[in-house]
Amino acid sequence: MADIARKQIVLGVTGGIAAYKAAEVTRELLRHGIDVQVVMTEAARGLVTPATFQALSGKPVFTDMWDPRVPDNMGHIELSRGKDAIIVAPASADFIAKLANGLADDLLSTLCLARECPLIVAPAMNRQMWDNPATRRNIERLLRDGVAILGPASGDQACGEFGMGRMLEAQAIAPAITTFFAPKLLRGVRVLITAGPTFEPIDTVRGITNRSSGKMGYAIARAALDAGAKVTLISGPVSLAAPAGAETTRVETTAQMFEAVKRNASRADIYIGVAAVADYRVDNPRRHKIKKTDRNQLSLRLVPNPDILAWMAARPRPPLCVGFAAESRNVDAHADEKRRRKKVHLMVANLAQEAIGADDNEVTLLDNRGKHRLERAPKDVVARQLIAHIAKLYGSRTKRKP
Ligand code: C5P
Repeated sequence: MADIARKQIVLGVTGGIAAYKAAEVTRELLRHGIDVQVVMTEAARGLVTPATFQALSGKPVFTDMWDPRVPDNMGHIELSRGKDAIIVAPASADFIAKLANGLADDLLSTLCLARECPLIVAPAMNRQMWDNPATRRNIERLLRDGVAILGPASGDQACGEFGMGRMLEAQAIAPAITTFFAPKLLRGVRVLITAGPTFEPIDTVRGITNRSSGKMGYAIARAALDAGAKVTLISGPVSLAAPAGAETTRVETTAQMFEAVKRNASRADIYIGVAAVADYRVDNPRRHKIKKTDRNQLSLRLVPNPDILAWMAARPRPPLCVGFAAESRNVDAHADEKRRRKKVHLMVANLAQEAIGADDNEVTLLDNRGKHRLERAPKDVVARQLIAHIAKLYGSRTKRKP
């Protein structure tokens, strides 16, 4: 299955010191599965070379209205035709003024004026330029014209001053663009997600856990938010920032995760169990640190934990239940066996040794209609494809209900 739709954008780079950050923006957009065509202003070329962007995007970079590489000299029209958006990052104060007034005296400004697609602008300038009433007026005018403005942020500036006007970091711009594009497939749907490992104490300082970074679960939470869902995330101990917009509860043990799931169960339309739940916990963990002695062998008695996913799927009117199965071999067969045994609607199978902690993943979706393999891709991309598949299952399920 391909990505929901590979979006294509023009990235306009104008002449601000932050032009060097546009290289990182290019990389991040590509990493999010977005196709990038870079167009630079003459001033931007004085700060960063087109070769940098050409190497990163794999496409020639355009600046000139009369570039002979555009066959009919209609670059100002051709380059944005069929594109899903034009993103100007960084957008200098001067370029913003041009946009606000409909000026078109170079390729990028002409592309913006002749566009049929949305325009997204990430301003970058000195704080006094940003605060100037002329810039404020121009920004207001752009907002009234339906242009989306991303940022700026506050912080250290290239001029040595501190204040508002820094361009947002690439790591903030790319997800904002993804959100902008995401079809609202789960608008208003309540999605409950578990993510990360659980940790079972042995004593006050030691414990047993599963290897899990939480990256897949957090990516799914973000993709569900982007699709318009109301997301509750119950997370084991991970070092990731809570996704903006999700109601996040942090837990440690499986028992705590189970309690948090139970509290939210009746309010969930969809349940996605991504957490690598510890199947066993230590019976009676010690209240004090166990002292090391040279001769003693130490035995731990392990007792089984509740299966949260199976519990959820066995509820009288269960939400649409999605499980994850990380297996080290015979992945699909084991995962399908789990899907039937736990009576879940969809099981996502992946190879444990390749998925854990990695930034990308390759999964197979198993449901009662069969198998769908998603090709290896960054976890954010896999998450969006998974959410699209879940939305389809959820749609046909709600249609069947009276
Ligand atoms: O551990 P197992 O491979 O059976 O995990 C498959 C699925 O079941 C995963 O989605 C996991 O989050 C869930 N699970 C659970 N509670 C457990 C064990 C697993 O919710 N105690």
